[in-house]
Amino acid sequence: MKKILIINGPNLNLLGKREPEIYGTQSFEDYLNVLQKKYTNIVEISYFQSNIEGEIVTKLQEVGFSDLCGIILNAGAYTHTSVAIADAISAIKVPVVEVHISNVFQREDFRHHSFISPVCSGTIVGFGLNSYNLAVESFIPNNL
Ligand code: DQA
Repeated sequence: MKKILIINGPNLNLLGKREPEIYGTQSFEDYLNVLQKKYTNIVEISYFQSNIEGEIVTKLQEVGFSDLCGIILNAGAYTHTSVAIADAISAIKVPVVEVHISNVFQREDFRHHSFISPVCSGTIVGFGLNSYNLAVESFIPNNL
């Protein structure tokens, strides 16, 4: 079975409580349960969250040469600041899809630039938590 890892960066552990008008009212754990059930027997979805930039780099290095078919990364605010995470994505073999819950292009200017977009295989932005579902779909070919 295909395996995917979702990595969430800083403050995404607060989903459901954090600025619900932007990020919604569902916790990531609740959403992940539904997602994992939806893809039972199709894709095995595991999850890692960290508020610490270096831990995200270390996780990318750890899994980046494994049998994972893909990584779904919401780097949170590090998207807009982290050369280290961009370098880690460039260094590894497993493809990374960048996701954002909110439409960052409708928000402050500093959210319009992503250090990681150029080194990711694709980017999904602005579909709420469904952005993750769409990213999972991107790893399932011929799924029409
Ligand atoms: C975010 C957008 C980022 O600008 C922000 O810092 C986040 C969440 C999103 O999923 O919409 O923490 O990545």
